[in-house]
Amino acid sequence: MQLDLNLLLPRVQATVREASRLMMDREHLLVKTKGSVTNLCTSADLAVQDFLYQELRALLPGSGFLGEENDLLDTQHEYVWIVDPIDGTANFARQIPECCISVALRGDDEILLGVVYNPYHDQLFDAVKGGGSRLNGQPIHVSDRPFEQSMLLTALCLYHKEHAEACSAIILEAYKKCNDVRRFGSCAIELCYMACGLCELFFEYRIQPWDYAAAYLILTEAGGVLTGRAGARLHFDGPTILVGANSLENHRILSEIVCKYTV
Ligand code: IPD
Ligand code: CA
Ligand code: CA
Repeated sequence: MQLDLNLLLPRVQATVREASRLMMDREHLLVKTKGSVTNLCTSADLAVQDFLYQELRALLPGSGFLGEENDLLDTQHEYVWIVDPIDGTANFARQIPECCISVALRGDDEILLGVVYNPYHDQLFDAVKGGGSRLNGQPIHVSDRPFEQSMLLTALCLYHKEHAEACSAIILEAYKKCNDVRRFGSCAIELCYMACGLCELFFEYRIQPWDYAAAYLILTEAGGVLTGRAGARLHFDGPTILVGANSLENHRILSEIVCKYTV
């Protein structure tokens, strides 16, 4: 089936904005844990995912869906929606305004469309393959800062703390060579902050397709680089190391550091 991505994009944007109303309605919000005390799932995560599951599949009949909550895995389709109903749930539960809805469309092992929306700041990032990236409709681009002036976005592998030592070693070595380190607590937002030139480097040890699929397209269409370990191509089908940068040279330097402490 041939898709007109430019026709689909505004409909996805409208659907995501609609879903954000469910996210921001905190009147009956329930916060539960799943698996461990640090892994949260709120009633808003579930409401947003249910809504997007219905609406996105209706936008593209026959499409599949990969969503974070409830092991929603229906991926044997030509086109698959990859959705994180709320990325940055720990922030959301505390009302720290760094969280978003992330929606990507995958076709044939590549991401065709990505939308990341933070309703707290009314920031909507989007991209379609080959069409550049935008923030609230305005074209965006990565910065040209060299490594020593770069800001690294990272984490200590929250849900697999057995990797925290390796992450610490990577962060420490990169920190000594770059400007500074930030942790916003939403992978999708962090990659979008790189896409619009606010920050330059990204590393996480174990990250899922719904965390980065939409922002992958937004970052790469804005001129950035995002790969697995040692430059590995991403496949959007399972957990991976993620290494990102505003330029090939900065990606090479960060990748070298990551490879030293990982296998
Ligand atoms: C998490 C956020 C966080 C990242 C974690 C993710 P969640 O997603 O993106 O920044 O460090 O690896 O799991 O749990 O808030 O959807
Ligand atoms: Ca996430
Ligand atoms: Ca989530």
